[in-house]
Amino acid sequence: MELAAGAADVDAALGGGLVDTLTALGATGKAEEITRTVSNSRLGAPLIVAVGMGKAADREPGNADAEILRRCAGAAVRSLSSPTIRTVALALPAGDSASAEATALGALLGGYSFDRYRSNGRVPADLTLIADGDHVAGAVAGAEVLGAAVRLVRDLVNASPSHLYPESFANTAEQIAASSGLGVEVLDETALGEGGYGGITGVGQGSVHAPRLVRLSYSHPEASRTVVFAGKGITFDSGGLSLKSPKAMEAMKSDMSGAAAVLAALQAIASIGPAVNVIGYLPLAENMPGSGAQRPSDVITIYGGTTVEVLNTDAEGRLILADALARAAADEPTLIVDIATLTGAQVIALGNRVSAVMANDDTLRDGIVDAATRAGEAMWPMPLPDELRRGLDSKVADLANVAADRDGGMLTAGLFLREFVPDGVRWAHLDIAGPAFHEGEPYGYTPKGGTGVGVRTLVQIAEDVSDGRL
Ligand code: BES
Ligand code: ZN
Ligand code: ZN
Repeated sequence: MELAAGAADVDAALGGGLVDTLTALGATGKAEEITRTVSNSRLGAPLIVAVGMGKAADREPGNADAEILRRCAGAAVRSLSSPTIRTVALALPAGDSASAEATALGALLGGYSFDRYRSNGRVPADLTLIADGDHVAGAVAGAEVLGAAVRLVRDLVNASPSHLYPESFANTAEQIAASSGLGVEVLDETALGEGGYGGITGVGQGSVHAPRLVRLSYSHPEASRTVVFAGKGITFDSGGLSLKSPKAMEAMKSDMSGAAAVLAALQAIASIGPAVNVIGYLPLAENMPGSGAQRPSDVITIYGGTTVEVLNTDAEGRLILADALARAAADEPTLIVDIATLTGAQVIALGNRVSAVMANDDTLRDGIVDAATRAGEAMWPMPLPDELRRGLDSKVADLANVAADRDGGMLTAGLFLREFVPDGVRWAHLDIAGPAFHEGEPYGYTPKGGTGVGVRTLVQIAEDVSDGRL
């Protein structure tokens, strides 16, 4: 075991021997291992927390290192949950811009806790990154922008669905738009009805909380291209009349994670300022089985005229996204990316830590997976097999919202969405059903509850389009 870059000054202040001390305390250096010791007044800090970084030889070059840094910084800060700890200094590797940003971001995200509903919530500790160099200030500023965006998503996802419903979510979006300098328009239930948004109104009609459609816009004077992001915003998914079981409903306040990711990405993009126009759609509805709810067998008309037979009211995300995708044609985008907690089948296919990427163009799909990897988010390419499309044929309408055969359910949902993508436009679909909400023990910089997955990838996509890489 050896000290990683950044720890040398700490070791020197202690008069050397830090490795021996940690070894005697049982440290092995394995990734995210936490070992605590004291400084005996030889340092300004009374408590020293060492975090294992794994085997140097196992580390891949490039961004894999950045992810190790984010996770280790996150695990270290997360372990300091005592209310008496007011300040934390980070002596972790930060010798170049990428490692400084990764360390700072991991620390910011690992230090997150959601205390809004606790009578004695704790105040997060102040974080300082100890590092020299011209690169540090810029790297920390970059981490702060992304950190604030991810934390915004987590806060929105973790909020009680009795507080966060379409109207209150839209109000929050308006406030964020105003403070970030984004354009914003909100369609209420009347405007949605008059505008022909049959997917959003159909899904929303079983709830006392009426639906909304938020349209956010960021524009850059030198931009030649426009990207549209659309995020599923079901503030609670009971399943509607195709009611979920109580267990399956417990995490369904997180069914607006896609919309939250789009809002937070626009906030970050406005602050970073890439040369691209970005439009964000947040179709917002609460899927409830009230007396006005849509019935299995109802036929609805999506924006633009396509009719859909709603055979299962729990397959509602695709209905609200269909309106948003069809509406996006008017923005003349060069690229559309939607992001949604769309299917339980995604969780079965890829588990809780890897999101799925589908697209109407294989090069684009691989480019999105690559963007996600560079941003530090695990995503994997998935196909849209043509033979599954006929499962969505309806006896009475243009399409059915579910296929009789449940096999390949994530892909069928992607094929449904593809029907609403404006002709000739490149489109990618991110299914984040598993990764959006973490129910296990915290790890790295990922806490319990909303994770904020997707935001960093969306920001990276906007930057890649601006750079001509996507
Ligand atoms: N919001 C759910 C998908 C989901 C499941 C997200 C688990 C996160 C964790 C979605 O609206 C849904 O219920 N989908 C159905 C579709 C089915 C009826 C075709 C599903 O996956 O069971
Ligand atoms: Zn559902
Ligand atoms: Zn849903």
